[in-house]
Amino acid sequence: MIFKKDFILQCPLRPSPLLSFTSIGMDFKDTKAFSNSSRRYYPTWILVLIVVLLQIYLIFTTTCFVPLSPATAREGDQLSNTAAGDPCSSGRVFVYDLPPIFNKQLLENCEALDPWTSRCDDVSNGGFGRLATELVGVVPGGLAPTWYWSEQYMLEPIIHNRILNHKCRTLEPESATAFYIPFYAGLSIGRFLWQNHTTSDRDRDSEKLIKWVQDQPYWNRSNGGDHFITLGRLTWDFKRWGNNEWGSSFAFMPGMKNVARLIVEREPSDPLDIGVPFPTGFHPRSDAHVLNWQSFVRERNRTNLFCFAGGTRHGIKNDFRVLLLSYCINESAGGCRAVKCTANRCASGDSAVLETFLDSDFCLQPKGDSYSRKSVFDCMLAGSIPVIFWERTAYGQYEWFLPDEAGSYSVFIDQKEVRNGSASIRGVLEKISRERVRKMREKVIETIPKLVYASAPEGLETIKDAFDIALHGIFQRFKL
Ligand SMILES: *[C@@H]1O[C@H](CO)[C@@H](O)[C@H](O)[C@H]1NC(C)=O
Ligand SMILES: *[C@@H]1O[C@H](CO)[C@@H](O)[C@H](O)[C@H]1NC(C)=O
Ligand SMILES: *[C@@H]1O[C@H](CO)[C@@H](O)[C@H](O)[C@H]1NC(C)=O
Ligand SMILES: *[C@@H]1O[C@H](CO)[C@@H](O)[C@H](O)[C@H]1NC(C)=O
Ligand SMILES: *[C@@H]1O[C@H](CO)[C@@H](O)[C@H](O)[C@H]1NC(C)=O
Repeated sequence: MIFKKDFILQCPLRPSPLLSFTSIGMDFKDTKAFSNSSRRYYPTWILVLIVVLLQIYLIFTTTCFVPLSPATAREGDQLSNTAAGDPCSSGRVFVYDLPPIFNKQLLENCEALDPWTSRCDDVSNGGFGRLATELVGVVPGGLAPTWYWSEQYMLEPIIHNRILNHKCRTLEPESATAFYIPFYAGLSIGRFLWQNHTTSDRDRDSEKLIKWVQDQPYWNRSNGGDHFITLGRLTWDFKRWGNNEWGSSFAFMPGMKNVARLIVEREPSDPLDIGVPFPTGFHPRSDAHVLNWQSFVRERNRTNLFCFAGGTRHGIKNDFRVLLLSYCINESAGGCRAVKCTANRCASGDSAVLETFLDSDFCLQPKGDSYSRKSVFDCMLAGSIPVIFWERTAYGQYEWFLPDEAGSYSVFIDQKEVRNGSASIRGVLEKISRERVRKMREKVIETIPKLVYASAPEGLETIKDAFDIALHGIFQRFKL
């Protein structure tokens, strides 16, 4: 059963802010090991006292709302209110409890999510995927349990799980600033995109969902204008033009015309699309994990000037990826390291891509099957500076997350100039001074926290991750 490890049902403890200074670089498990070893040096009663005090402390600092009841949620709110102002002054979110066909059942039927392969590994661990045990020895030891093989389209369950545990979740719709619709739209339509499925197959669940949500009493307040959803696939998968074309028409349905969407690739002209980072494999549980990772990538000795990790697609004429791969292989003496992605090599089970990014100053990021690319985030996470060839790959896409000034964290080279030979990639990169490279890398490293999705159900202690930023942004937008 996939739901067995689901984060919805779990509430793992994590070090609270006050404790965390003693446990920098350690998991909660490590903290326990620490108290076990102290048994050798202190009388038992001291240990018992410490444990009891710790328990009491944790009871008061762990605001875990699972299982949920209205009473516990209200108590939790009051507790944090008296502690330090109102931590939810920017807003509260109400999460619809949808019929399971719209979310839970999709996970349970993970074999059917994709016509070619089982997605059961991908949806496991609350959407983070299988633990990346293959990265032991590549990432710092204490961080190995925070790495998963996260699939690029799994944001729907990831965000749903976080939001259910959020301290600003409310169970009283009257007090909500925002309403979250946890429909896994991308997983739902992913089943019907290929083969001989009809457009009505692709739209069926979406239509049912809209009908359901329009029957809810709080929908009519603003016709869905204070509602939002997560779309874990690309924008064109939800915007079908004409009959029998690609995708569903979910985003075009009249019922959706006011609903904001957190989406991994936005269409720049559509104000309802809000670009959020693709999930990477790193899902820290504490501030210390993030800080540890940042210093690891900062101190890394990078032996390649640049790199390219990518696959090639048959049937796409003049695919730029084919050109880059060939260029990078030709330039291996000139500082380029290539990883040719075949089958699963780059998606899961192989540490080659992460190691390549960790060892390179720059990473080449062409458009993929669409403009955006999960690899941009994998690259930046490794402290490597992305080289962009189409503006839409990064700029104007993820405004809440990436630095405003494109040149501060990335290099832009127009793909047309590469194709006609007027720009040499190596030439451009070699001209950038070491000091400038250092500055850009620092900007990338500074951005890392905003690009990761934490695995602590309630989020990190003080660091705001991609989810915190997205939810805060939604509250700001809805309060205008
Ligand atoms: C799709 O094609 C398969 C055989 O390739 C067939 O068994 C199935 O009935 C078809 N489905 C539809 C909806 O036409
Ligand atoms: C919301 O408005 C629509 C259209 O005016 C109406 O059909 C529907 O019954 C209303 N829903 C509720 C729950 O009031
Ligand atoms: C990087 O190289 C420098 C100089 O060669 C060395 O002092 C340092 O320990 C290396 N750092 C790592 C993390 O390997
Ligand atoms: C790489 O080298 C081969 C053989 O010299 C050449 O045919 C190819 O065009 C080169 N690729 C690029 C992108 O320059
Ligand atoms: C190459 O393409 C760029 C961008 O389209 C153009 O400005 C430039 O003039 C072209 N150069 C050559 C030599 O064709």
